This record gives sequence, structure tokens and C-alpha cells, in this order.
Amino acid sequence: MRILSGIQSSGETGCHLGNYFGAMRQHVAYQSEHEGIFFIADYHSMTSVRNAALRRRLVDEVALDYLGAGLDPEQAVLYRQSDLPETCELQWMLTTVTPMGLLQRAHSYKDKLAQGVAADHGLFAYPVLMAADILQFNADLVPVGQDQKQHLEMTRDMAQRFNHTYETEVFKLPDPLIPEEVAVVPGLDGRKMSKSYDNTLGMFWPQKQLKKAVMSIVTDSTPVEDPKDTDHALFQLWALFADEAERDAYFERARAGGLGYGDAKKDLLKRILDYFGPMRERREDWAKRPADLEDVLRDGARRARERVRPVLDAAREAAGLGGR
Ligand code: ADP
Ligand code: TRP
Repeated sequence: MRILSGIQSSGETGCHLGNYFGAMRQHVAYQSEHEGIFFIADYHSMTSVRNAALRRRLVDEVALDYLGAGLDPEQAVLYRQSDLPETCELQWMLTTVTPMGLLQRAHSYKDKLAQGVAADHGLFAYPVLMAADILQFNADLVPVGQDQKQHLEMTRDMAQRFNHTYETEVFKLPDPLIPEEVAVVPGLDGRKMSKSYDNTLGMFWPQKQLKKAVMSIVTDSTPVEDPKDTDHALFQLWALFADEAERDAYFERARAGGLGYGDAKKDLLKRILDYFGPMRERREDWAKRPADLEDVLRDGARRARERVRPVLDAAREAAGLGGR
């Protein structure tokens, strides 16, 4: 199976717990059994990051997060999206078979408009670029968080329309792979954890910063002895780091009363630091070797291009582009 996924290098720092549990953890888990191709979506970041130095730094951060989390560049392909500008050619081809209405119905686009973001064409066309990322590889499976489900449906739609228009089978219809247990990781304020909501916990933030953020998780004034509702971001976050038995016991304690929010926050902080500790060391080791990091990304782009070229050539041929 060919597995393909990407993470956007946007915001101000690297990946958060939502990115890890919703996406990255699965990416790393699949690399040994499947052909894994993962990329850092810096073209996509252009819809929000408008500074060259910041864009470069964020690419490095996400690449280091991947390597820290255990992505093995000997097995999986890790590349920087902008090292493969061929993707943009396919995006153009796909835009010409994508109805306006399809893009107008995109939740991500509608949410951004509702937040008052001044929309440009890039934001509107974002799902077409994402479809090109996927279809250029003829990927079988795309592991993503729940929030990306609609984008995958749109990708399938575009593939079908292109195939139908040019009477070809050039594009395979990819399936999403969404982890059921942690479909949506909540943020500090209880909404979906997201770089755009400023409610995140970074995987590799320094201990002090993590502590401050964990302590700021919004709780009410229920006294320590009273029962707590475990359907709360604090407990849901804690549960990410526990097995089922541990979670049941902890939730029972919380529901019975006697477990205060303050203690639960301390428990959560400890879990985060313990869990990401070994990954943090591996990340720091890579961070000391920027030339090696660059080599990984360059080699990743070379291997990505080998896979993409035949698909793109077939799409060009089907559409009658270029000389014979
Ligand atoms: P953000 O919303 O912070 O900008 P991205 O859109 O870059 O995050 O997401 C990268 C990957 O992480 C995607 O596969 C997405 O589905 C997943 N993801 C992001 N936030 C969450 C979350 N809160 N819960 C589960 N998965 C998430
Ligand atoms: N849109 C995805 C997100 O915001 C990132 C992404 C871009 C992606 N291209 C992709 C994910 C292709 C999977 C496959 O999270």
C-alpha cells in the first residue's frame, strides 16, 4: 500500500498534540509495513504565513518534529512540498475540472470566512492543491485527522472528473484513514486543538512553556471533593497518554470526586514530558545537524519525483499537453 500525507508548516512553532495523535503518530507507525510518503506542506502555508524566513524556519521545525517522532528517512520518504513544483502543474489541470460549487462547500474555507479571514484565491483553491499532492502519487491511503475528511472526498471527486473528462484511468481514488480513538484532540479551551485558535500544546515545547499552557486549561470552580465531568479537555488530553485500564480507573476517580483539576493538570504535564522525552532527545540530535536534515529533504524530493513523474506524464498525455 502506498500511504501519503502532509502536515502544513504554519503557525509559529512546530507540531502540536492534535497533529501528533491525529496524524503524525499514524504516519510513523505505517512506515515499516507500507510505502510511506510524507511531506511538509509549505506551499499550503502560503495562505497564512507571509514571511520568507518564518516559512523556512517552520519547515525545519516540522521536519525535526517528524524525525523526532521516529520517522525513519531510510524507510519513508520525507520531502518539502516546494521541492516538487510539479505539484502545481497538476493543481492547474485539476482546477479546470473542479466546479466552483464544490470549493464553495468546503468547511475549512467557510470556517475561515466565518472567522473574518480575508479570503484570497489561494485559500479558495487550497483543496485542489491538496488533491494534486495526493493524486500525483496514486496514493492508496491518506492518514489524516477527522477535519480533513471532506478534503479527501473532494480529492476523489476531482480524480473522477478528470478521469471521466479525458476518458482515462490515470488517477486512483484514494481512501482516507482516520484514527477512530482520537478523531479530534481538544485544545486548551475545549475547541479543536488548532494552530489557528491559539489553544495548542506543542509536542516539543520547553517544559516551562508547556507547564504554563497546561495550567491555563480552562476549568470551572468545582471543588476538589466534587465529581468531575470527564468529558472535559483536561481529562480527554490526559487519556491520550493512558491505556484503557488506566483511563477507566482515572475517570472513575474523577467522577467519584476527590481528584482536583490542579492535580489532574500536574498529572497531564508529567505524562506529556515523559511521553515525548525520548523523542525530544532524538529531535535535539537532528537539530544539531542542519546539513543532514537538508540532505534528508533533498533525497526525499528526489525519491518523490521518481514516483510522481510517470503519473504526471500520463495525465499530460491524457489531456493532450506538450509536444509528442
Ligand atoms: P492545524 O489545524 O493546527 O492547522 P493542520 O491542519 O496542519 O493543523 O493539521 C495537520 C494534520 O493534523 C492533519 O492530518 C489534521 O487532521 C491533524 N490535526 C490537526 N489538528 C487536530 C486535532 N485537534 N485533532 C486531531 N487531528 C488533528
Ligand atoms: N490540508 C492538510 C492540513 O491542513 C495538509 C495537507 C496538505 C495534506 N496536503 C495534503 C494532508 C495531502 C494529507 C494529504 O492538515
